[in-house]
Amino acid sequence: MSPEDLARIHAAAFTDQRPWSAAEFADLTDSAHVFLAACPQAFALGRCIAGETELLTLATLPEARGQGLGRKMLRCYHDAALQRGGESSFLEVAETNHIAIRLYESEGYTQTAKRPNYYRLTTGQRVGALIFSRPLNRQ
Ligand SMILES: CC(C)(COP(=O)(O)OP(=O)(O)OC[C@H]1O[C@@H](n2cnc3c(N)ncnc32)[C@H](O)[C@@H]1OP(=O)(O)O)[C@@H](O)C(=O)NCCC(=O)NCCS
Repeated sequence: MSPEDLARIHAAAFTDQRPWSAAEFADLTDSAHVFLAACPQAFALGRCIAGETELLTLATLPEARGQGLGRKMLRCYHDAALQRGGESSFLEVAETNHIAIRLYESEGYTQTAKRPNYYRLTTGQRVGALIFSRPLNRQ
C-alpha cells in the first residue's frame, strides 16, 4: 500500500484530528523499525524497537467498518510484532474513542496511563489520551 493510500484512508478515518500526510507516512514506512498490516480498506501501522512495539495508528474506511477488518488488522499487527521479536505492545487512544477502546480491551489491552489534554482536535477542543498495553506472548 502506497503512502498516498495510507494518507487517504487515515484522512477518511480520522475526521476530527489532523490527517497525516503522504510524506509523513513515507517517512515512517522508510524506517526499518516500522511495519504495516494492510488490506484495501484498512491498515495498522506499527513500530518495534528493542522488543517494545507501538501501534502507531489503526484505521478502517468508514464504509467498511463493523466487518471485522479493524480487529483483523490489529491481530496481523500483533503477529508481525511477534515475528520482529516484540514482547509487548502499547498504543495511545483518545479517551472519547469508545469504539477503539472497546476493540483494544477485547484484544487483551489494559490501560496503563493517561495524558490529559493530549490531542488537539480540528475543532480546537483538547482531549486526553489513554495509554493501553498488553504482552505479546498471548492472543
Ligand atoms: C477503530 C476502528 C479501526 C475499528 O475498525 P472496524 O473495521 O470497524 O473494526 P471491527 O469491525 O473489527 O470491529 C472491532 C470491534 O470494534 C467495536 N466496534 C466496531 N464498530 C462499532 C460500533 N459501531 N459501535 C460500537 N463498537 C463498535 C466492537 O467492539 C467490535 O467488536 P465486535 O464486532 O466483536 O463487537 C474504526 O472504527 C476506525 O477506523 N475508527 C477511526 C480511527 C480510529 O479511531 N482508530 C483507532 C485510534 S487509536
